[in-house]
Amino acid sequence: MFELLEATPPDALLGIIAAFAADSDPAKLDLGVGVYRDELGRTPVMAAVRAAERQLLATETTKSYVGAGGNRAFAAFIEELVLGPGHPARAAGRVTTLQTPGGCGALRLAADLVLRTRHGARVVVSEPTWANHRPLIGGAGLDLDSYPYYDAASGTLLPDAMQEALERLPAGTIVVVHACCHNPTGADLDADQWRSLAALCGRRGLVPLVDLAYQGLGRGLELDAWPVRLLAERLPEVLVAVSCSKNFGLYRERVGAVIAVTANAAQAAIVMSHLQALARRMYSMPPDHGAAIVVAIAADPALAAEWRAELEAMRLRIATLRLRLAAALGAGPGGGRFGFIAGQLGMFSLLGIPPDAVAALAATHHVYAAPDSRINIAGLPEAQVERLAVAIRAVAG
Ligand SMILES: Cc1ncc(COP(=O)(O)O)c(C=O)c1O
Repeated sequence: MFELLEATPPDALLGIIAAFAADSDPAKLDLGVGVYRDELGRTPVMAAVRAAERQLLATETTKSYVGAGGNRAFAAFIEELVLGPGHPARAAGRVTTLQTPGGCGALRLAADLVLRTRHGARVVVSEPTWANHRPLIGGAGLDLDSYPYYDAASGTLLPDAMQEALERLPAGTIVVVHACCHNPTGADLDADQWRSLAALCGRRGLVPLVDLAYQGLGRGLELDAWPVRLLAERLPEVLVAVSCSKNFGLYRERVGAVIAVTANAAQAAIVMSHLQALARRMYSMPPDHGAAIVVAIAADPALAAEWRAELEAMRLRIATLRLRLAAALGAGPGGGRFGFIAGQLGMFSLLGIPPDAVAALAATHHVYAAPDSRINIAGLPEAQVERLAVAIRAVAG
C-alpha cells in the first residue's frame, strides 16, 4: 500500500535547522527555531522544574493510567492561572478544563470538539499566523479561512481591516486569536481593541478560540491572561488552548490544556464528556510527567515563587533584547524602519524582508531566520546584538 504514497513537501523550518547544522562558522546564529534560549544559547530546564522532578522521583508511588481527562489537579491549577481565582464564569460552573498533550493537542482537540457541534463549521485564523495552526485545525476537517491582522512591510497591526472582515462572518464562526505574544509577529491587540473584539464577537455570535502559548512572556502572567478573562466574562462561549511548553520550559514533556467556557454548568459537563471521548479515541490519555511537575510546583509556595521569578527573568531578558536590537538597528542607515521590534512582545518579530534577504542573512552573515523572516529574539545572545543589526541592515538594503 505504501507505493501509493508520495513524500510530503519538506518542512521549511526543518530546512533551516539542517542548513544551520551544516554551517561550520563558529559565530552562526539560530533565530529560526521557536524555543527560549538563555544568554549562552541553551534552552535550560528551569530550576523549579528540576526541584519538582526530584520531589516526584522521591514520592511517586505508581505509573498507573491517569484517565482521558488527565491530571485533574493540573487542570484546576491551569484554570486558575488562566482565568484568575474569582472569575465569574468559574464561579458559575461554566468552565471545564482537560489536560492535553501540549498546546498542539489542545488546539486539535478544540477543533475536533467544534466539528462535533457543527459539521462544516468555519474557522478563521489571523493573517499571518503560526505555521502549525492551519495543519492542526484544518486537519480536523474544519473549513479554514483567514482575517487580515498585520502588515509585515510596515510592521503595523491592521485592527480596522480585521474588524471589517470579522463583521462579515456568519454567526458561529470560530475566530482563532493569540492571547499574547502573537506568533509570528509579536504584535498584540491593545486593551481597547480586545474590548472591541469581545463586543463584535457578542454582536455577531462569533466564538473565540484563544491560543495561549506564551503566558508570562509578554507583559507578565496576569496581564497576558487578561484577554482570556475578558472574553470569558463577556461571551457565552470561549475555547482556550493552553501550552506549558514555554512558560514552564516543558516542551518535550507535552503538557497543555483545553479550557471550554460554556453558556451554563450543564453544558460544561456535556462538553467535558465529549473532550474525554475525543481524547480517548485519538491518544487515549495524555502523558503525566509534565502535568505532575506543574502540580508539584503549584503545591509548594517556595517552588511556585521560584518558578515565577525564573519566568519573569526570561520575560525581562526578551524585553531588554528587543530594546537593544531596535536601538542598534535605529543607530544605522535604514535601520529605523525596524523600530517596531521595541514595542512588540514575546519571542518573535517578523522582519518583513523578502525571501532573498532571508537567504542572504544565512548565506552571508550566518544568521538563520524562519523563511517568512520571523526571528526568535530569545535566541539572540546580548553580545551579538550589534552584529545582527549590521547583518539585517546589510540585507534589507
Ligand atoms: C502560537 C503557538 N500555539 C501553540 C503552540 C503549541 O506548543 P506545544 O504543543 O509545544 O505546547 C506553539 C508552540 O510553538 C505556538 O507558538
